[in-house]
Amino acid sequence: MSGKTVHIKSFGCQMNKLDTTLVNSALKDSGFALTDRVKEADVVLINTCSVREHAEQRVISHLGHLQHIKKSRPDIVVGVIGCMAQRLGNKLLQHDAVDIVCGPAQIPQLTKLITQTLKQNQETISVTEKIRKGTDESQALALEDFESAYGTHDKQIPGQAYVRIMRGCDNFCSYCIVPYVRGPEVSRPPEAIIEQIKKLAEAGIKQVTLIGQKANSYKYKSGDKTYCLADLLRTACDIEGIEWIRFVTSYPSEKFFEEILQAMADLPKVCNYLHMPAQSGSDKILRAMNRHYTAAQYLEMLYKARDIVSEIAIAGDFIVGFPGETDNDFEATVDLVKKARYKNCFIFKYSPRHDTIADKRLADDIPLEVKKKRNIDLLAIQEEISGQLSAEYLDKKVKVLVEGLSKKPHLDSAQSNGNPQLIGRTETDYIVVFNGSQSLSGQFAQVKITKTSPLTLFARLM
Ligand code: 5AD
Ligand code: SF4
Repeated sequence: MSGKTVHIKSFGCQMNKLDTTLVNSALKDSGFALTDRVKEADVVLINTCSVREHAEQRVISHLGHLQHIKKSRPDIVVGVIGCMAQRLGNKLLQHDAVDIVCGPAQIPQLTKLITQTLKQNQETISVTEKIRKGTDESQALALEDFESAYGTHDKQIPGQAYVRIMRGCDNFCSYCIVPYVRGPEVSRPPEAIIEQIKKLAEAGIKQVTLIGQKANSYKYKSGDKTYCLADLLRTACDIEGIEWIRFVTSYPSEKFFEEILQAMADLPKVCNYLHMPAQSGSDKILRAMNRHYTAAQYLEMLYKARDIVSEIAIAGDFIVGFPGETDNDFEATVDLVKKARYKNCFIFKYSPRHDTIADKRLADDIPLEVKKKRNIDLLAIQEEISGQLSAEYLDKKVKVLVEGLSKKPHLDSAQSNGNPQLIGRTETDYIVVFNGSQSLSGQFAQVKITKTSPLTLFARLM
């Protein structure tokens, strides 16, 4: 649709970021121009997240803003894609600002939906009717084709790209909306993944991040062989041009665990980094969350990981204020965090999600003030640990992949020599700030760490 301009705003996780990249490429391919400014756009798309109430509220407030803009520009077309589109369907279409609702499994049809709406000025919706039944075969093929055709590099972060290895989730952690909006767990064929990484390497990509809700349970049966994540990592390492490979997120499970860590230890290209959420340190709460491990088993897995990969950095997620979480349960979480010695943790206040098992069966009985306090307390404990771990980097020489200009100025960075502040990441996912030429973006650089803080290392170029 030449001459029309699209703006996409993306909320949420890496899955959404990747979907935004795919949609961007598909739209460009059909003749749309992309813009960073809502003001210049004929079509505004919002890629949405449903994982917590707060994420949905942000989208609703954004839609309110667009409704206001529509008063003076009634021709503007607004589309909602992503998890909220699947979760709320028709309810979203009733919002005055919304013209198109398109679920995550329907993004291959999005260009067509937009073109129709622009031409005929009518509202359209395309979501999966019975999400737990999954997509039908033709839709599954359409998704695969779409991913292979548009799974390219969008230059958001030079030199890096995400590659989806699986869709959906079958775990049904009791608090989580993902299985209800992203559907059943499906691993992509290994050949398609490897083909895509080869194409990315040819386009100059140096780091790929393999993504899945439970990337470590990737499993694909082909003939007599069952491929797991370790097989993918080994094959991807043979691709010339790809220098670093990561994967997120890992579910704490013994299955494939040692093979994957052994691959990390054996293969220099596989980054020594594991994001493995524990969610809680209390066995009672873990059971209520429908997580299939105890705190002791979880810690055993971390110790094993450190045994096999000595330099590994581990990150975690926790939910505080889950229904029934007593002070003692929270203390068990504090205890786990102290023992786990994470590089960093993402800590969330429990947010009831409609239709999930926790929401149906358990009252959200922890007062907001208590959730907030537990969140702050846990962050403070983690910050101390992060500070100790990052301090070990002082005076070390490390290799970083440069992401680009640092968005906020850091007074603590080394002397500038007229160069701007850049941000890079170590193999272990530490953020490093240093002064250097912007032309280093997308390249590897050697730096020496001159100062550390809990979440950021400061360095000078060597
Ligand atoms: N409330 C709070 N946090 C949640 N998460 C997932 N669902 C919820 C919820 N209902 C968190 C988990 C998960 C991360 C992506 O989001 O910690 O690992
Ligand atoms: Fe949600 Fe659990 Fe699946 Fe992660 S593993 S996406 S928390 S249901």
